[in-house]
Amino acid sequence: MFDPNCVCFFDTTLRDGEQAAGVNLNAAEKLQIARQLEKMRVDVIEAGFPAASPGDFSCVQTIARELRKTTVCGLARTREGDIRAAAQALVQAENPRLHVFIATSPIHMEYKLRLTQEEVLAEIRSGVSLARSLVSEVEFSGEDASRSDLQFLIKAFKVAVDSGATILNIPDTVGYATPEEFYQFCRAVIQGVAPPAGVIFSVHAHNDLGLAAANSLAAVRAGVRQVEGTINGMGERGGNSAIEEVAMALKTRADLFGVSLNLDTRRLFPVSRLVARLSGVAVPPNKAVVGSNAFAHEAGIHQHGVMAKRETYEIMRAEDVGCVPAVMVLGKHSGSHAFRARLEVLGYHLDDQQIAKAFEIFKKLCDEKKEASDGDIEAIIADEIFSVTPERHYELKDYTVHVGSGLATAAVVLIRDNQELKDAATGNGPVDAAYRAIRRVINLEPRLESFKVSSTSERSDALGEAQVVISYQGLRAQGRGASTDVIKASVRAYVNAVNRLYSLAAVREIRLNGQPLASGSSKEPPKAS
Ligand code: KIV
Ligand code: ZN
Repeated sequence: MFDPNCVCFFDTTLRDGEQAAGVNLNAAEKLQIARQLEKMRVDVIEAGFPAASPGDFSCVQTIARELRKTTVCGLARTREGDIRAAAQALVQAENPRLHVFIATSPIHMEYKLRLTQEEVLAEIRSGVSLARSLVSEVEFSGEDASRSDLQFLIKAFKVAVDSGATILNIPDTVGYATPEEFYQFCRAVIQGVAPPAGVIFSVHAHNDLGLAAANSLAAVRAGVRQVEGTINGMGERGGNSAIEEVAMALKTRADLFGVSLNLDTRRLFPVSRLVARLSGVAVPPNKAVVGSNAFAHEAGIHQHGVMAKRETYEIMRAEDVGCVPAVMVLGKHSGSHAFRARLEVLGYHLDDQQIAKAFEIFKKLCDEKKEASDGDIEAIIADEIFSVTPERHYELKDYTVHVGSGLATAAVVLIRDNQELKDAATGNGPVDAAYRAIRRVINLEPRLESFKVSSTSERSDALGEAQVVISYQGLRAQGRGASTDVIKASVRAYVNAVNRLYSLAAVREIRLNGQPLASGSSKEPPKAS
């Protein structure tokens, strides 16, 4: 039953968030994130855009099958094909929702859709009615709502309600709104539509001007009861509204907002870490709520104040967002029970086989270094469990590097289809040489878009974690690798990215290795904003 005082959270990390440049999560990673989101008691998870690609379809399908509590949502344009694909992907969901959208702003209708207002209303009528005939809960979004004509948007929402939508979403698609103006706009929309009981309004803010969280909060003040956003604010351009920011603002300033949340905010920190690690999009240290410095006090005067009374400089408690240091450090003598328990605290949901494999690698790591930090454990899982997916076209068997003065040489051995493939190359450093050697083996020249190495803790025996993004013929793939040896981590990351590139190419029916693109495959799959 709808509680008018409760603000629901709709997480679109796996749909809008994944549209961030260079991010592509595989099915295992998406499922892991979805499971953590469910554990955090997010109300709705938008798992993908099923019509966009077979990969998106099957991810939505898997998440819909696996999650039993959280509502699982699939996105669709008003087109029949999109709606049927989304409904089909959601068939096994316990709580399905179909999210239908079409642009309602003059600029989008004229230049992108080339449709008149009447035609857009007709699209809404047919799309939402069809969606409602297939799925029990339908959300409708007027894309670019904040730049839409108020009266037209009200009309569009009324048509959506008449056609069966019960959630009406007001997106600030291009992050153009400002809080006071958006508050007035949302109020006017809510008053103008005046829907029957059981219909709620939603907000979906983008962060182009850094105002997404503020606009979402303004919308809540105006009466909106669903907030859409992503973990860490991940998303295209400036990103989306960060769920952790809006949730903690509503909770910390309950005196002002007077609303309740279903969200378990103590899961925010682990979920944020997971999303950062799997997406390769790092959280800046000063990021509100989940940054590594969010609860760190450097200035002596602040430290003194916090010691005397915490509330002098802390408005939230670190434990309320799940930012708690490990009480027990795992190491050489830790058994599988302690390891399993730590995985549980970190929020991982792995099957017995995966746990056994992770434990074996953890034990090997503890032979190299006495203790393993949470970061080490998370890196092992990200590298050894989630990267082992069907897209493992190439496996790294061996590599050697030699570094001279100003020149490095590398030889690599990869395995493909049980066949050993080797080559060697020179470069200006060991990583450069190894990457050149890999490119010779795979006979492909992807462009290296980004390459980062970080450590899993501040200790010198920490694991090095490498993240790379490569691109080839319009495809972008990320890869990661972890090892106590940063060269090895970098090589593993590159091979992982190559494997993901192959998977993306397969989904989009693009042939690699110099062969021509399959006909019709160069068209980009549809993307929502
Ligand atoms: O930003 C946007 O308008 C969207 C819609 C699909 C809701 O992502
Ligand atoms: Zn969006």
